[in-house]
Amino acid sequence: MKFFVDSADIEEIGELADTGLIDGVTTNPSLIAKSGRNFLDVIKEICTVVDGPVSAEVTALDSATMLKEAAVLRGLAENVTIKVPLTMDGLKTCKALTDDGASVNVTLCFNANQALLAAKAGATYISPFIGRLDDMGIDGMELIEEMREIYDNYDFETEILAASIRNINHVKSCALIGADVATVPGSVIKQLAKHPLTDKGLEGFMADWAKTGQSIL
Ligand code: E4P
Repeated sequence: MKFFVDSADIEEIGELADTGLIDGVTTNPSLIAKSGRNFLDVIKEICTVVDGPVSAEVTALDSATMLKEAAVLRGLAENVTIKVPLTMDGLKTCKALTDDGASVNVTLCFNANQALLAAKAGATYISPFIGRLDDMGIDGMELIEEMREIYDNYDFETEILAASIRNINHVKSCALIGADVATVPGSVIKQLAKHPLTDKGLEGFMADWAKTGQSIL
């Protein structure tokens, strides 16, 4: 499973990119607003620190304007992925962009039929929002399961990019089901490496090593 960072915080993205564990980045208008920075500048900068796809979302609601915005975003860097909402206009834009060779992430997917349409529109990625479904008392993970089955039934190449991930259990379940990508907040990515027994074990090893009085270097 690939890992994208769900962030527009350049410092956080740079720090995680340095680990070599990050395959791409997703942003959205809310994350851009949170960064307090110019949208185009942030995307350009992220694209210099991460080699993989960087999702930048159009903000128009009609397809003609979405396509104009997408042209601007595509001009920022080679690795920009255009993010479009899962609306009829968004799907139309997706089809036109992928026919033109662009990478497209269809976002705000909340059910399997929407996912089916995104695949028909040739989406590179489809983003089901797990956490927001969980917030409503609907099991977001069931959606990932349904999408995996439908995409496998028809050999759709669209990658399932699990989004709105809130905790480490979401990440594990996505990996078990076979999501292609998970876009994860930086704080959750860091938690994945944590276990109290790892900390305790390391503490013990360090204490015993100190008793030897030795040094490797
Ligand atoms: C994905 O591309 C979205 O940016 C993101 O995962 C949304 O997550 P949220 O529901 O926590 O805002």
